[in-house]
Amino acid sequence: ISCVEDAILFTEEQEALVVKSWNLMKKDAGEWALKFFLKVFEIAPSATKLFSFLKDSNVPLEQNPKLKPHARAVLVMTCEAAVQLRKAGKVVIRDASLKKLGATHFKYGVVDEHFEVVKYALLDTIKEAVGEMWSEDMKGAWSVAYDHLVAAIKTEMKP
Ligand code: HEM
Repeated sequence: ISCVEDAILFTEEQEALVVKSWNLMKKDAGEWALKFFLKVFEIAPSATKLFSFLKDSNVPLEQNPKLKPHARAVLVMTCEAAVQLRKAGKVVIRDASLKKLGATHFKYGVVDEHFEVVKYALLDTIKEAVGEMWSEDMKGAWSVAYDHLVAAIKTEMKP
């Protein structure tokens, strides 16, 4: 009987696919981040109500200065998750940060369906950004990294 937590197998190739595509997007990260979340709100318009800074704001969605940082955080943290999955076989987030992430998403009423929509929009944005470089393997690598990151956040989504 093993007492060791099962490590997730995430290969060097998968890590490289994620890092390579993120590096390509990095120089226009703000633009892609914005596109990413506009896709989310196109699919799920009601999700805008979750964000305090969108709900209480009169500026058009795409001009809201607070929208990009969240979108960028999702991209960056998913890429970091890929690196950690390869290195450590798990998503590593500082305890305090993970607790805060879980608490925030719980408090604002983020549910499974929101994570699904964001995943779909994330993959669609990367596909658009990398063009010919897109592949099923690249999609798979980002999917796995995102799913594990979300699973980690969900462990702390409780009152
Ligand atoms: C806040 C990351 C998914 C909605 C935050 C913050 C971070 C973050 C870093 C701010 C820090 C904090 O207060 O704890 C992520 C990551 C995600 C993710 C890494 C997925 C891997 C989602 C999804 C939704 C969402 C799917 C809903 C569509 C929100 C909201 C806030 C927030 C409403 C609070 C914003 C406000 O201050 O009004 N997220 N997020 N997030 N996130 Fe996410």
